[in-house]
This record gives sequence, structure tokens and C-alpha cells, in this order.
Amino acid sequence: MTSIDPANLPKHIAIIMDGNGRWAKKRLLNRIEGHKKGTDAVRNIVRASREIGIEYLTLYAFSEENWKRPKSEVSALMTLLKEFLISEFSEMQENGIRLNAIGRTEKLPEAVRKTLSETITKTSSNRDMVLTLALSYGGRQEIADSVKRIAFLIEKGDISVNEVTEDLISGCLYTAQIPDPDLLIRTSGEYRISNFLLWQIAYTELYITPTLWPDFGKDEYLAAIADFQGRERRFGGT
Ligand code: IPE
Ligand code: IPE
Ligand code: MG
Repeated sequence: MTSIDPANLPKHIAIIMDGNGRWAKKRLLNRIEGHKKGTDAVRNIVRASREIGIEYLTLYAFSEENWKRPKSEVSALMTLLKEFLISEFSEMQENGIRLNAIGRTEKLPEAVRKTLSETITKTSSNRDMVLTLALSYGGRQEIADSVKRIAFLIEKGDISVNEVTEDLISGCLYTAQIPDPDLLIRTSGEYRISNFLLWQIAYTELYITPTLWPDFGKDEYLAAIADFQGRERRFGGT
């Protein structure tokens, strides 16, 4: 197993969990079977993150654009999400994991919203890791919502135009309470961002692997972290 330096861990890892459909297709299974298998990978990576000592883990679970998928697939994903929240609750409590959600979660079905908000409330005093699920999330929508909030503050006279800074914008995003990701992992080999955390990844290190999400396990997770640890982050300096 790859060894990593515990003194140089990424504080925040974000993951675009892609490839469930292709995993199923390769096995002549229904796409939904791929999503089910993907849920097992989520459980493993959440567990591994906590063991390694990652403070913030953000998972892209459902994009704003994913609503365009067939109704049957969307509804299966919603059911899996609800089941995941219920089945993982005790482990989140035992491991000090606080659940958080970003995105237009008001669009989720009522039953999912209810379980989501209950889990967020019940885990709110956990302090060891923040697990953020991006649900009905789009980076452009997030920026648009932030601009609206700022415009409203200006309209009310609470702030002046000159007070619009990078920090103010960051503070009006859904991720206001979370540091920018240090490492972004995308599985399934697509070299794109698919509308994930557009503002926040300005200086994030990218790791793209051809492995399909259901096959992504702890070994490769450690390899991604080790790869990150070998990079020189310059942030535009020398
Ligand atoms: C990622 O897997 C899961 C979601 C987007 C919800 P996909 O369903 O996108 O799988 P592929 O990309 O079709 O293989
Ligand atoms: C990105 O995957 C969204 C999630 C992983 C939730 P998609 O499969 O939706 O992205 P594209 O369509 O390949 O860009
Ligand atoms: Mg995909």
C-alpha cells in the first residue's frame, strides 16, 4: 500500500465520482446497479478519509444538470441517497463526522430533504471531519446565487460597491464555511470539471484517473494523496 506523509495531508479533498454507468455497462447491467456499487465506494472513501485524518471531504453526488437524466434513474439515485444517509448515520456519529450539503437542495424530493436535514442537525456537533455532499449542485448556479445575495446587500444599502471583494464573494457561496479544496479527484478519465466548485478550485491540484468510481478504493485514494504530496504548489509565485 502506498505510504503517505501524515504531516502534509490535503486539508480538503473534493471528488467528482464519475463512471457508475460505464461500470454497469461493462458488465451488461442496468446503470442503477452501477450507482448501487458506487454507494459502496462512497462508504469506503468516507471511512478511509476519516482514518487518514482528512478534515474536509466534498463529494459531487448529483449535479444540477443530472436532473436531465431519465426519471427512473433520478428516482433511483434519490432512493439510494436516502438509504445511504440512514445506513451511515451511526458510523458518522461514532467517527465524529459532521454532514453538510451544498447545492439547490430545495429541489430534492421531500423525503430526501427531510432525512438530509435531520442527519445534518443530528451530526452538527461532530468535530473530526466535515463530509459535504454536493446535491443538485452547479458551480455557475452557486456563483449566480452569490451575486444575487451581494446585489441585494448593495440594494439595501448594507454595503457599498467598493466592498465587493474576493473574500465577500467566497463568503456568499454555499461553501462559505469550508476552505478551498487542496486536491480534486475525478474518476472515469474525463478531463473536465462538469460545473463543480468553479470558484473554489482556482489553485486546487487535479488528479484524474481512468478508474471508474465503483472500482475506486483505498489503495488508489492513497496513491492520489501521495501524488498530491509530490507536487510543488506555487500559487503563482516562483
Ligand atoms: C456518476 O456516474 C454518478 C452521477 C453522475 C450521479 P455516471 O452515472 O455519470 O456514470 P457514467 O459517466 O455514465 O459512466
Ligand atoms: C459529474 O458527472 C456529476 C457527478 C459526478 C455528480 P457527469 O457524468 O454528470 O458529468 P459529465 O456529463 O460527464 O460532464
Ligand atoms: Mg458520468
